[in-house]
Amino acid sequence: MSRKRQPIEPHRIKSVEPIKQLSAHEREQRIVEARYNIFRIDAQDIFIDLLTDSGTTAMSARQWAALMIGDESYAGAASFRNFERTVKDIFRKRFVIPCHQGRSAENLMFSTVVEKGKYVLNNTHFDTTRGNTLHKGGIPIDLPCPESTSDEMEPFKGNMDTEHLEAFINEHGAESIAMVVMTVTNNSVGGLPVSMANIHATSEICRRHNILFFFDGARYAENCYFIKRDEPGYGNKSVSDIANEMFECCDGVMMSAKKDGMANIGGFIALNDEDLYQRVTELMIIIEGFPTYGGLAGRDLEVLAVGLREAQDFDYLDFRINQVAYLGEQIKQAGMPIVEPTGGHAVFVDAGKFLPHVPPNEFPGQSVAVEFYREGGIRMSEIGSLMFGGKDPNTGEELIAVRELVRLAMPRRVYTNSHYDYVADVAARIADRRDSLTGYKVVHQTAILRHFTCDLEPLAHKKVHS
Ligand code: F0G
Repeated sequence: MSRKRQPIEPHRIKSVEPIKQLSAHEREQRIVEARYNIFRIDAQDIFIDLLTDSGTTAMSARQWAALMIGDESYAGAASFRNFERTVKDIFRKRFVIPCHQGRSAENLMFSTVVEKGKYVLNNTHFDTTRGNTLHKGGIPIDLPCPESTSDEMEPFKGNMDTEHLEAFINEHGAESIAMVVMTVTNNSVGGLPVSMANIHATSEICRRHNILFFFDGARYAENCYFIKRDEPGYGNKSVSDIANEMFECCDGVMMSAKKDGMANIGGFIALNDEDLYQRVTELMIIIEGFPTYGGLAGRDLEVLAVGLREAQDFDYLDFRINQVAYLGEQIKQAGMPIVEPTGGHAVFVDAGKFLPHVPPNEFPGQSVAVEFYREGGIRMSEIGSLMFGGKDPNTGEELIAVRELVRLAMPRRVYTNSHYDYVADVAARIADRRDSLTGYKVVHQTAILRHFTCDLEPLAHKKVHS
């Protein structure tokens, strides 16, 4: 019988970090002590950590070398110039504002452009983007394409619903909209990509209505890989050419460089408008740092200058996207339904389908996440009604997520295929006793981003009728 070939790492290992597995009894103690909130468990008590692909990247030998030549001058450091040159080259903008991570870029941008009651439209807001919009009194609106939640194997299910976008603008008026944001890849619907055609269409609508159009570019390089692989006309273009074409379409970019910056910390805003640049910069000096370091050390900027280019390497991207697909296939074979096709940075288990006996307001995603820790010391995050539900602070309405997902996010260059085979074995053991999994209730929470700090309790087990 022929065996499916595993994707082969285009790198070898130079430095290792031990990980250890706690006993089942110790894991049970930890999850109870953490009040069933996975964010509260100490990393040393985790065997395989798939909580996020953000800031968890293994740096390359070239990045470690770059760290040593960081220029720590307060103003005008050589490392900033190097970083600035790299960002301008990739993102095609006149001004570059470094920030310590993505959400500080969001805070700076939204504090500057979002007024109370104004809309921010996004193919789908990530939680911090939504939180920052709400925090400034703005109203976040998600406009994912209808295919985003279908079971079809469409290649670009991360797209913006441009018909809906146009209709929304016509109904509410362009002046009610602070900005339109395109998130690439679309994290919240499964790390799924946006096509270049959709980017051009969205850009055209924003230009015609004179609305500010920004990218949330956290995983832009992974998105470019999908365009190259799956969109007609792009197969012979380089990742870097595709990135240039993408960013020529917008007024600016906010980026958490903890993802496709291949770094453990960092972010930036890149934009063209000088007046906006001045206004953001004024604010940043108060809250983030001098404009040539933005809350980062010189060595961080130097590491980012290398990492931003490494993320565009085709062999690296080809391996990464295939490793995600490989894990997805294994999890599916283990008996857990997943979001298909798999995206760029994670496998998303459809916990709503996996646990039909647990309704959305009892958080089936959290139930699956807790069980992965219990069964195998694996950590991951719920992306469902625990993250997106709760009371809307503007309207008071009780919200429910579109889908109940659990995200197995894959850190860049960190885990090998055998680690992921282990994850699939654990998934199979959970699938075998899925009827015994219960829902949860929230017993303590905050108004915004409650999933980070809330306390939960398991609900009594309900008899499952099959
Ligand atoms: N935008 C997107 C699409 C993100 O996925 C994130 C972070 C941010 C913005 C905020 O960036 O963390 O640097 O402040 N996502 C992480 C995740 C946390 O796990 O998906 P940050």
